[in-house]
Order: sequence, then C-alpha cells, then structure tokens
Amino acid sequence: MKIRKAVVTSAGWGTRFLPATKSQPKEMLPLIDKPIIQYVIEEAVASGLEQIIIVTALGKHAIENHFDRSFELEHVLRQKGDERLLREVQRISELASICYIRQKEQLGLGHAVSITQDLVGDEPFALFLPDDIIEAEVPAMKQMLQVHDRYGCSVVAVETVPPENTAAYGIISPKQVEERVYQVLDLVEKPEPEEAPSNLGIVGRYILTPEIFSVLKETPPGKGGEIQLTDGLRLLLQQQALYAYRFQGTRHDTGTPLGFLKASVELALHCPDLASEFKEYLRKLDLPH
Ligand code: UTP
Repeated sequence: MKIRKAVVTSAGWGTRFLPATKSQPKEMLPLIDKPIIQYVIEEAVASGLEQIIIVTALGKHAIENHFDRSFELEHVLRQKGDERLLREVQRISELASICYIRQKEQLGLGHAVSITQDLVGDEPFALFLPDDIIEAEVPAMKQMLQVHDRYGCSVVAVETVPPENTAAYGIISPKQVEERVYQVLDLVEKPEPEEAPSNLGIVGRYILTPEIFSVLKETPPGKGGEIQLTDGLRLLLQQQALYAYRFQGTRHDTGTPLGFLKASVELALHCPDLASEFKEYLRKLDLPH
C-alpha cells in the first residue's frame, strides 16, 4: 500500500535546551538559517509523502506560523524588491499539506503517536522525530519506503552506534536479510554495552503499520512514566514482522546542546555560501588542548 502520510512528533518539552525552550519550541531552533523542523518536513516532501501531521503542544504556535503564509512579511519583501527571500518565504508556506493535532499532556512519544490515529486512519504511515536531521543523497525516508515496498512491514531506521553508547538507544537483535536490511528479532531499550544484542541503534525515522495504534493502547507507561514507542514496537513484534534498515547518510542528533552544536558546524561546512570562510575561521581558532 502506498504510504501517503507522515507524522512528525514535536510536542516534547525540550528540557535539555532550557532555558532556550522556555517560551519557544526546540524544533524552531535554527540550524544555519532554517528551523530544525523544516529539514524534516523537506525530507518528507522529497520522499513523496503528501500529507503531514504535526503533533504539537502548548507554546508551539511558532511551528504553525512558520509553515503558514505571512502576507505582511511578503508585502515588506516585495516593497524592498527582495525577490529571492520573497520566493523562499512563499515556498515554505507551500511546502506541503500540513495539519496539526495538540497533545494535551506530554505522556510520551508512544502517546504522541497514538493520538494521530484518527488522522492517519487504517493505513501505514511514516514517522519522523525532528531531533534527527539526516543528510543523504537519497532522502533517508525515501530509502526506507523502498524497503517497506519490498517487505510490507513496519521498518525502523538504524545506524551503527559506538559500543559504549548503546545505553542511549533502542538496540535491535538483528537477523540480516539483505545488504542494510535486517529482520528485528527483539528490541532492547537503552541496554548497557554488555547487555546489548548488537550495535544497531534505532534513530528517528520509522514506517509503521496501523496496528501500532491498537498496540499503543495496550502499552503500559514505561521509563519515566511515559508511554514509550519502543515498548509498543516490542508488542507489535509479537503480532507481525518488523524490519530495520541501516540507511545511507549522516544523522545529526540535534536533541542536545552538544549534538546541536556539532550539527551546526558540520552543516556549515557543507554549505556552499559559508564553507570556505567558516573553514578559514575554524583553522585560525587557537584551540586549547
Ligand atoms: P525526547 O525524548 O527527545 O523529549 O522526545 P523532548 O521533550 O523532545 O526533549 P527533552 O528530553 O525534554 O530535552 C522524542 C520525540 O518525541 C516527542 C518529542 O517532541 C521528540 O520529537 N514527544 C515526546 C512528544 O511529541 N510528546 C511527548 O509527550 C514526548
């Protein structure tokens, strides 16, 4: 079945970025000159997804405003004769058909996904966690959709994580079925290195079958009292096969200040307008050892 819909969860508190996120959404922090969430929406569009459902919460209006038209701003840019910026702000408002649903209580990622059931309906869908920005020649979600086409099951994106970092990821127990594709035999949430069944960690891209909704209803609150998507996936695994795909590309975890900083530097080094001056600046930095 062709996948048409994308869910983007952006209702979290973003506590790791306080105080920056006290009155603005984490997803609107800019990487170079674009808010984080725009990278993800552009990936969804470039992957051929037609409708985007963003899960928001109290204090997240800036996200809706960003993807809406701003007639005043367009008027100002037109008067200034800045055609390039005018086209850019218009392009953002025409990127995709987006609808919003509010998560009234932040009861976890699994809960955020579950409230989209009526909007998604009885069809498989793509899920994006906007903390993860993926630079790739072929958009990471587009690669995953091809895997879903072949196997018809839920697919999670995985990457090889350093053994000492397994406790930061959901780790899969894999059975390789083709290059980059694994059948998931089990999932372990944030295992210590000696308990990790592999070094393949789940990152923020998923394709989920609609059965995830009934499963999430049965998923008890887990770590931190939140309904965890990984717990839901473990229950789903008892009903149907789940695959993992080791995507081609580079993931940046923008969900922590250090990850955000690294992503900003790496993207700047890949940005044609900034790279050479920025490299020059970095070279001249007298870094203390
Ligand atoms: P995180 O675990 O990174 O939480 O959520 P967070 O709130 O974004 O950030 P910290 O940990 O407080 O700094 C993973 C994803 O799940 C979404 C988040 O927006 C993020 O995309 N989420 C989490 C929700 O939409 N609702 C929730 O109740 C929890």
